Amino acid sequence: MRIYKAKDYKDMSRKAANMLSAQVIMKPNCVLGLATGSSPVGTYDQLVEWYKKGDLDFSEVTSVNLDEYKGLDAENDQSYRYFMNQHLFTRVNINPGRTYLPNGMEMDEAAECRRYSALIHELGGIDMQLLGLGHNGHIGFNEPGAAFEKDVHCVQLTETTINANKRFFASAEDVPKKAYTMGIKTIMQAKKIVVIVSGADKAEIVKKAFFGPVTPQVPASILQMHNDVTLIADEAALSLI
Ligand code: F6R
Repeated sequence: MRIYKAKDYKDMSRKAANMLSAQVIMKPNCVLGLATGSSPVGTYDQLVEWYKKGDLDFSEVTSVNLDEYKGLDAENDQSYRYFMNQHLFTRVNINPGRTYLPNGMEMDEAAECRRYSALIHELGGIDMQLLGLGHNGHIGFNEPGAAFEKDVHCVQLTETTINANKRFFASAEDVPKKAYTMGIKTIMQAKKIVVIVSGADKAEIVKKAFFGPVTPQVPASILQMHNDVTLIADEAALSLI
């Protein structure tokens, strides 16, 4: 594992965007595994800036996202499809038809998991997967206790997550209770993995995940076993290392 220490969030974003753009430049028809959340927003902004300057071309890139809420469609501003359109897809020249996320509107869970997993396989796997890190060590929606050998699956969101999400929805019934996510096995099959972490509130979990024992209780700890992982974290997130 390589660790790059960034000064702050902006520097972390620039470093991560550098790795993604190197991937796109070296292999224009690559498959990028993408994430949502607050961690990658700056990375996407930086990629957009370089694209606008004419330094990057996404026309041959394919993307597959980690996860999506079950029951939310692309127009719902809480869906991950909406997030990706807002932060990246509509701002660069990626072919919208080659940007993939699990289909949150598919109610047949087994069929959707099979479809998404087969899709990743047919694309020849993920060349570079970008990951954020949850405070409890989750990656994608793989929460503590998740089996390492899982492929794409549908998870029941925890009460804490559902409650935390309530404020974004008109009523409690509208809050998604489930989500589709790549499993740990899917993530571990990516050829390269880039993890981005920022902030003092993540310092404890960075220490546990990358310097503690490998255990399903800390899902990200399995990344220690991958042969091409780059951790890009700011000084605050690395303060306990
Ligand atoms: C996002 C995802 C999540 C986030 C994680 C960190 O697609 O799968 O695992 O990466 O929750 O979130 P932020 O970046 O908001 O701290």
